[in-house]
Amino acid sequence: MTIVQVDGWLRLAALAPSPLNTQPWRFRVTPAAIELFDEPARALPIADPDGRERTIACGCALLNLRAAGAAAGCDERVTLCPEPADPGLLARVTLTEGMPDTALAALAPAIERRWTTRHALRAHPLPPGLLSALAAQAAAEGAELLPLDDRAARQSFADLCAEADRRQHHDAAWRHEVARWIRPGRSNDGLPASRLGGRALRFLVDHFDFGATSASRDEVYILHAPALLLLATPGDEPHDWLRAGQALQRVLLRAALEGLQAGYLQQPLQLPDLRERVADAFSPGRRPQVCIRLGRPVEDPPPRRRRPVAEFAEFLPA
Ligand SMILES: Cc1cc2nc3c(=O)[nH]c(=O)nc-3n(C[C@H](O)[C@H](O)[C@H](O)COP(=O)(O)O)c2cc1C
Repeated sequence: MTIVQVDGWLRLAALAPSPLNTQPWRFRVTPAAIELFDEPARALPIADPDGRERTIACGCALLNLRAAGAAAGCDERVTLCPEPADPGLLARVTLTEGMPDTALAALAPAIERRWTTRHALRAHPLPPGLLSALAAQAAAEGAELLPLDDRAARQSFADLCAEADRRQHHDAAWRHEVARWIRPGRSNDGLPASRLGGRALRFLVDHFDFGATSASRDEVYILHAPALLLLATPGDEPHDWLRAGQALQRVLLRAALEGLQAGYLQQPLQLPDLRERVADAFSPGRRPQVCIRLGRPVEDPPPRRRRPVAEFAEFLPA
């Protein structure tokens, strides 16, 4: 693997989704391997105190790296959490010319086509057979994808989401954390400001409680999405979160190949008591990690914001 190749793969890795577009990863490239590290400086201590979602995002970036390497004809080997003494080192990847994983390589063209929607989705049903193809993608990383199909299940998820929306927006520390990641137009991380402009939006989010508005918007999103999907894992340790992230990214990329995009409904999974209620109701015996709605978006993708590779990767000489 050449430096130019690795630079290109890392640019693709960083197109992964992350909470509030925090991009909480760091890579170290040695002559033998590419190492992925957690970036606690980009943590969200209020919304994500255990770093669970941050680690899931790193798992998404890891999957992009693997898919990019496979598409370039490389055989990839991954060790998750390889040094128990160094919990910040999340994965070590070796990519060598050889027999690429063709299923992973097939997902690579979708890396640049995937983005997060924040509007209602078109009503079109999913293409036939796609749900089982998505479940197989999640299973390939050891996770389970559970569709929430019937109206009663969706209504009870919407009720949990509404409670989470109200509690989070009521919490000044949570509002302040979100506001901090609303960034002006030219920023390469965080969320874009609306037409109101960065300062005005940040002020509104920081100082006003939009819990009720968010709850009613999310209820419509949940009840009307062509698909509502809960991703769950058997355990709840950092290596499970990395698996969940890789499974999520496989699902998102496979969907993006069909022109489908996802929106997130993480709120009830961010509050421990509500997360238990989600687990009891929808994934007994397994740990719920991510909830997405999936369908055809109505809007165009927003301009992409990403940090350049030089900001998050270090290349060590041979
Ligand atoms: C674990 C995780 C949690 C997320 N939670 C939310 C969320 O609660 N609400 C939301 O709108 N987007 C959420 N996102 C999506 C990010 O906001 C989005 O990935 C980021 O802004 C970058 O934009 P992009 O996905 O269009 O590249 C989440 C993404 C991940 C990986």
